[in-house]
Amino acid sequence: MPDQLAPEQAQGLVPSPASEVTAVPATFLPGIATPPALTVPPHISAEVHALIEDLPEPLKTAVLAALNTPDGVKITMGNAKGGVMKTTLSVYIALILALTGEPVLLVDADDTNKTCLKWQAAAGEDWPPLVTVVGYTGPAMAKQVTDLMARGFKHLIIDVGPTDKGVLKTAWMLTKRGIVPTQQHVGDVVQLTTTFDLLKEMGERINLFVMLAKSFPKRSSYSNARDYIQGLINGESADHPDGLPSVGLLEGTVPLLEGIADTWGAIPDDFGYFGAVLAEALGVPASVIAERKAAWLHELAEAQ
Ligand SMILES: Nc1ncnc2c1ncn2[C@@H]1O[C@H](COP(=O)(O)OP(=O)(O)OP(=O)(O)O)[C@@H](O)[C@H]1O
Ligand SMILES: [Mg+2]
Repeated sequence: MPDQLAPEQAQGLVPSPASEVTAVPATFLPGIATPPALTVPPHISAEVHALIEDLPEPLKTAVLAALNTPDGVKITMGNAKGGVMKTTLSVYIALILALTGEPVLLVDADDTNKTCLKWQAAAGEDWPPLVTVVGYTGPAMAKQVTDLMARGFKHLIIDVGPTDKGVLKTAWMLTKRGIVPTQQHVGDVVQLTTTFDLLKEMGERINLFVMLAKSFPKRSSYSNARDYIQGLINGESADHPDGLPSVGLLEGTVPLLEGIADTWGAIPDDFGYFGAVLAEALGVPASVIAERKAAWLHELAEAQ
């Protein structure tokens, strides 16, 4: 477990007490040379091992991929557009990462809304002790996060608000990997160029994964959005004529579901869509995620 936080570092800290896969062609995902192993590493305790074995798919695949991600999972949820599921993704994925049995730092970098902090407060004692939430933004954020991570956190999720572009760049520098959730409406996808312009201003390679959020996968606007985004990545748009070599488009999506909105402030019991998104962002091909889920469902049916 990470060391105790100094009071000044704990500012903004709410103390912790102790699928569906859409059939689309495979997409090249940047920055992932080899998919992570999907086995339980030897250092994992028998207790956590047993819990992982009992997880449903695709959650189990996500947890195994996280356990086998060198140096831990580090992801920024960011998009210059508001209301696109950044916070919901941040909280769900931080909660999934806690299933590794390893400590997770969830940085609420949206000091206007502070939604992760509010979510944790609303969840009260149900919030898992392994997920520490801190509120950091501004110039000191990079040092604050780096210092905290050095205290023993394994995984890092940063939730960035829609307005502060400097904070988004700092978060990307810290995690080197990001998920960019976007809705499928034309008005949303055309705004992705604002986020990609920021990426191009950075001197460093940041691997970003665009994900269609609050989606309606059966509508034509869904495939139109995918085509548009893939075109941006491939350099078919005048906005980014050189393409976006460090950007990929996830096959996994999280549909618009009232049940997901209703989990705000609570610990959800269904991580299905989110497990698939995390596993894919860690380099597990969508086809493998789908196969593993089908095999698990088959086993369940056989056992009944
Ligand atoms: N899959 C979903 N289906 C339906 N509603 C959702 C879904 N995901 C999130 N919501 C709801 O949509 C709203 C916006 O989600 P969220 O707060 O995660 O977005 P955000 O990108 O963090 O917004 P902001 O830019 O304001 O920080 C919330 O009310 C949330 O509960
Ligand atoms: Mg938010």
